[in-house]
Amino acid sequence: MGIATLAAMWVASSLMLRSAAVRSQSGILAACDYKDLATAEVHGVSGGVDVSFCGKSVTLRESGSAADPFAGVTWWDASHQGEKLTKQESKTLKNHVGSYWRYGRSVAQLGKGLLPPLYKEDYNTDFKDDNYASLVRSVLGFTVTLADAANKLPAPAACTDAWLGDWIPKEALELLRLKKETGRTTSFAWFQSPTFDESHSYQFLTEKEQPSSCKPVCLQQNISFPVQFHFRTRHGKDVAKYDTKEKPMLVLPNLAFKVADVSEVITDPLYVMSTAELVQWLNTTHPYKSFQERAGQTFGPYPRLAKEVQRRRMDGKGFSAWEAKGDGEGKYEMLEVSGAEYRPFFDALSSRFDMPPRPGLWGQVSNEDPYIIKVTLEDPEGCD
Ligand SMILES: *[C@@H]1O[C@H](CO)[C@@H](O)[C@H](O)[C@H]1NC(C)=O
Ligand SMILES: *[C@@H]1O[C@H](CO)[C@@H](O)[C@H](O)[C@H]1NC(C)=O
Repeated sequence: MGIATLAAMWVASSLMLRSAAVRSQSGILAACDYKDLATAEVHGVSGGVDVSFCGKSVTLRESGSAADPFAGVTWWDASHQGEKLTKQESKTLKNHVGSYWRYGRSVAQLGKGLLPPLYKEDYNTDFKDDNYASLVRSVLGFTVTLADAANKLPAPAACTDAWLGDWIPKEALELLRLKKETGRTTSFAWFQSPTFDESHSYQFLTEKEQPSSCKPVCLQQNISFPVQFHFRTRHGKDVAKYDTKEKPMLVLPNLAFKVADVSEVITDPLYVMSTAELVQWLNTTHPYKSFQERAGQTFGPYPRLAKEVQRRRMDGKGFSAWEAKGDGEGKYEMLEVSGAEYRPFFDALSSRFDMPPRPGLWGQVSNEDPYIIKVTLEDPEGCD
């Protein structure tokens, strides 16, 4: 038996021993400190990179991420709060928060069990390693320093509010609802950056942001949902000064949150209107929104359209579906408006949405989701 084989056996058996020691009954790793990731064993295997830490081993791959590879790792450490950040820690925090493509994205991908891009694959990255194993070591090291930095920042004395907009799959939403019902806590497998600016969080809930796998019918087909998480926590670290545009709070991974509320919020008033309500709405005068070209002016009534809608017994949902279909369905014939009047009319229709506008090609445009889901997350011990 060669030295290498013996060494391999020794490593394997010590890993197994360690594994037994840290594994709790449920099979979930206990007491795995994030600092252990700095000394994780990292080596390339076919089709990926193996990372061994705390007695377990995960394989990071180019696609098809491992489910929650760093589950069981404890990232929160209150014992260094208020300590001065080293130069390296400040720089790491600033890089992570301030430049998604150069740093944040690689950190995020690693957390999902994916290999971050090599420099030769994507020149936007500042992790310039030329092979995956070395890259993974670099990103792990960066991430541990990031957590060191975040843990040194003071935690707020009272719960602080921050918001995160994201599209999440149906199953994840159902799990959140279940957790609300049963009182079970939820957590995030990786670093999250909700914003202190609630209106900014809506930018991530637009139909433009829906996952490419089900775009543009994610919501219509109940595949993925626009969810606004409202954090109320004493565990978020204020890093807004590093990104004055997005004003983020940094939330370390694997913290427990109580799911205090899950609510559907209608953002297209027409979506829930009966025929009578819709007819009334179309037959009345309304103001344009302040971000629209015709701000200060009003639109409506549209008595002909109201009458036609009544005749067809169209409710708000039917009207929205008809609206989304384009002009093949008698829309223009029903409107009987001349070409020059289309723009004001469609601006009028798009003025009804309740979410803040998003930047479009020629200025602000409406966020046209019919509804969003608001989820309130609180520290398990509550906030009041
Ligand atoms: C989506 O869910 C809603 C509410 O549960 C339901 O009314 C609707 O029919 C569903 N749509 C599809 C396409 O499954
Ligand atoms: C629209 O409003 C006008 C004026 O109040 C009224 O005469 C008409 O009947 C209304 N149309 C519908 C379809 O309700």
